[in-house]
Amino acid sequence: MTSTHKSWIRHFHVCLIQPLRGLTSDMGRFHYLLGTVLLFICSFLWVGSSLRREPEPSRISLAYGSCPCADDREKVTAPEPTSAVQLPDPTPEVTPPTPAPSSYLPVINSHDNVQSAFPLKLWQKAGSKGIGPDRSNDIQSWLKKNPYLRHEILTDGSADQYVRENFADFPEIRDLYLSLPVPILKADLLRQLILYNDGGIWSDLDVTCHHPIDIWIPEEYRDKTNVVVGLEFDGSQFASWTVMTKPRTSHSVAVVKYVVEKLQASAAEHNITTAELNMTMISDVVDVTGPQAMTVALLQNLEKEMEMPIGRANITHIMQPTLLQDVLVLPNAAFASLQAGHPEDRGPYLVEHHYAGSWKNTQGGEGLGLDSA
Ligand SMILES: *[C@@H]1O[C@H](CO)[C@@H](O)[C@H](O)[C@H]1NC(C)=O
Ligand SMILES: *[C@@H]1O[C@H](CO)[C@@H](O)[C@H](O)[C@H]1NC(C)=O
Ligand SMILES: *[C@@H]1O[C@H](CO)[C@@H](O)[C@H](O)[C@H]1NC(C)=O
Repeated sequence: MTSTHKSWIRHFHVCLIQPLRGLTSDMGRFHYLLGTVLLFICSFLWVGSSLRREPEPSRISLAYGSCPCADDREKVTAPEPTSAVQLPDPTPEVTPPTPAPSSYLPVINSHDNVQSAFPLKLWQKAGSKGIGPDRSNDIQSWLKKNPYLRHEILTDGSADQYVRENFADFPEIRDLYLSLPVPILKADLLRQLILYNDGGIWSDLDVTCHHPIDIWIPEEYRDKTNVVVGLEFDGSQFASWTVMTKPRTSHSVAVVKYVVEKLQASAAEHNITTAELNMTMISDVVDVTGPQAMTVALLQNLEKEMEMPIGRANITHIMQPTLLQDVLVLPNAAFASLQAGHPEDRGPYLVEHHYAGSWKNTQGGEGLGLDSA
C-alpha cells in the first residue's frame, strides 16, 4: 500500500470516525463498532478501486477512442509506437527464411506467400565484345516501354563479383560458378542465381520489349503469381532469354539446384572437375544449364509442390496465360512470336528474341534443340 493510501485512511479517521465517536457517545457500543467496521469496509473498497485505477493514467486516453473523428483517433493511436510492445519488423529482408527439410537456398516467396510485388528491375549481361548498336536499340526498347524500370548490365567481372558477394554463404554454388571456364555456362547459371537472389526480369541483350511489364500478367493472376515464363516457339519448353520472378522462390531454388547438380554430374562423367568442362562437352552440357534444364526443373518442382502430375502436357500449345500454382506460363506468342510465325490467336507479343547469341547459332541455336526434349 502506498503512502498516499495510508494518508487517505488517516484522513478518514480524522475527518469521519472521530466526529462520529462524538455523535454516537450516547448510542450503544455495539452500534458504534458496527459503524466503524462498515466505514473500514467502505474505505478499503474505495482504496482498492483507486489502487486499480491509479497506476494506469494512460487509460484515460481511451476516451478518445469513442470519438469517431479521424483527428482524435490519431491522437489515441499515435503514442502506440513508443510503447514497449514489440512490433513486427516491416522489412522482409530480416524475416527469418523458412527452412524446408531439403533446404538448399532459403525460400521467402513460396506459393502461399504471393503478397510482394515483382521487383521492377531488368538484369542483363554483356559479353566480352561489349554492346553494339542493335543491342543498344534493344536495351532502349525496355527503358522506353518501362520508364520506371531499374536496369543493370553485368560484365564478366561484375557478374563474378555479384556471385562472390551474394553467395558467400553458399560456397558450393559460388565456387562452382567461379570455376566454370565456359562463358555460356556461366551466363546460364548467372541468370538463375540472379532470379533466385534478387528477382525481377532477366533478359538476354538480343531481346526487344514491345509491351510494358505491367500488362504481362493478366488481372486475374496479379495476386497469385511469383514466376512468369513464356513458351518457346515449339510450344512445350520455357524460354530462358526472358524470365520474370520474385526473389527467393522455391522454383528458382529448384532450377539452381538442378543446374548445379547437372554440371557436377557432367564433370564427374568425364572424370574432370567443373573447372575443366570445355567446349567439347558443351553439346552435353547445354541441356543441363539452358532452357531445357529450366523447363524440367520447374515442372518437376511444380509436380512435387502441387502433389499432382505436371508435365509437358499441361503447358504444350496453350492459347492463353496458364497459372500452375504460382507459376504463370505465357503462350508462345508472348516471348517467341517471331519464331512461332506471329500467331494471332494467343495474346500479345510481349518481347521479341533475335537469336543474336553468335556461338549458340554455330551450335544450331538454342531454340532448335527440339530433339533433346
Ligand atoms: C573415370 O575414372 C574411373 C576410375 O578412376 C574409371 O574407372 C573410369 O573409366 C573413368 N571414366 C572415364 C570416362 O574416363
Ligand atoms: C576438353 O577436355 C577433354 C578432356 O579433358 C580433352 O580431351 C579435349 O581436348 C578438350 N577440348 C578442348 C577444346 O579443350
Ligand atoms: C496436368 O495434366 C495432368 C494430365 O496429364 C492432369 O492430371 C493434371 O490435373 C493437370 N494439372 C493441372 C494443374 O492442370
